[in-house]
Amino acid sequence: MGLPLDGKEIILGVTGGIAAYKSCELVRGLRENGASVSVVMTQAAAKFISPLTFSALSGREAKTELFEPQGMPHIDMTARADAFIVAPATANIIGKAANGIADDLLSTMLMAAKCPVLFAPAMNCRMFDSPALQNNLIILQGRGAFFVGPEEGPMACNEFGWGRMSEPDDILRAAISLFREKTLSGAKVLVSAGPTYEDLDPVRFIGNRSTGRMGFAVAKEALLRGAHVTLIYGPTALVPPSGVKAIAVRSAAEMSEAAHEAFRDADIAIMAAAVSDFAPAEYSASKIKKDGRQNYSLKLIKTPDILSAFGKEKKRGQVVVGFAAETDNAGPNAIKKLKEKNADIIAANLIGKDTGFGGLNNRLYIYDKKGLVRDTGLVSKDEAARQLLDVAAGLPQLKEIKSKGRATR
Ligand code: C5P
Repeated sequence: MGLPLDGKEIILGVTGGIAAYKSCELVRGLRENGASVSVVMTQAAAKFISPLTFSALSGREAKTELFEPQGMPHIDMTARADAFIVAPATANIIGKAANGIADDLLSTMLMAAKCPVLFAPAMNCRMFDSPALQNNLIILQGRGAFFVGPEEGPMACNEFGWGRMSEPDDILRAAISLFREKTLSGAKVLVSAGPTYEDLDPVRFIGNRSTGRMGFAVAKEALLRGAHVTLIYGPTALVPPSGVKAIAVRSAAEMSEAAHEAFRDADIAIMAAAVSDFAPAEYSASKIKKDGRQNYSLKLIKTPDILSAFGKEKKRGQVVVGFAAETDNAGPNAIKKLKEKNADIIAANLIGKDTGFGGLNNRLYIYDKKGLVRDTGLVSKDEAARQLLDVAAGLPQLKEIKSKGRATR
């Protein structure tokens, strides 16, 4: 049996963090799994570990310089690469990649790369928490980059928090999982994501805290598995991953219309959007005034339940996946929702401090008609999406697509 990374060309970027020593182990692991590895180091990384060490471990000269006497041949390497890993990824390289700065070999190569890019962040916990870094993560995630870690734990600087680089084995696993089996090859996947905004007047709306990260991660994962993806998303700061057909909407009514159009032709619909359940009965074309009132009642009416409608309308072979974000009783509510909405899968998650809306991580309890089939544990939203699509791709309807190709409806 072949190795998981047989024939794969991988570029490993190493930046200047104390965790750089762990990347020596990563080079070994990548090669043991069949990959050819080219190491590119920043000047700061070379202060922690000698390029000679990486040259010896990779069997290829580790590169540090953008300009060499023979030109810039290593830029061409990015065209041949199957994956690009940056480990450790400092706040600096994440900032450069997010903002299009190319001022040394590694940042230049990252900008030229067309292959999947996996970052393993490593930095002081306060740097990791900083708005600048968090914003840069959102930018990169929105563009389709992958992340592994960081982990929570003691730091080299004697502090404790999120910022430790993941262990080499975990980075290796994440790298292997970039080369997904094309379990959704040719399938048409519809994903809804983000909140909806229900306008009251030209300046006010009813919305919610959804960032769209979970749905965007599902869209990215479906793309990696060879699907044609339509992503219908409410107002969010994220940029849709390149390669998906992205449709921006605002209200539940707009999302419903766009989703119904796409569902006609879809093999699987994954409704990760936090759709508003109610919308104002009336829209005021001019700004609503206080007019000396002490209270104000708003009449709300039910919005269309897209997931329920799909459950009723679905034809043979179509799969419908819903989410159930709950503050309590996630399990019983998920089972109830699955039955009431005639969904094939419900992914339930508790809205808490570290999970659900807003955060980078999530814990999904995945139910199908038989009951709980997977507890993802607390993982990144990318990993949660991977596990969700593993379960979905295992459903008989989708297995059929894989073996016989798409049925024409
Ligand atoms: O009933 P509840 O809103 O908790 O169900 C959540 C699931 O239903 C999510 O998958 C969400 O995307 C979907 N939903 C929908 N249309 C609505 C409300 C929720 O598709 N109007």
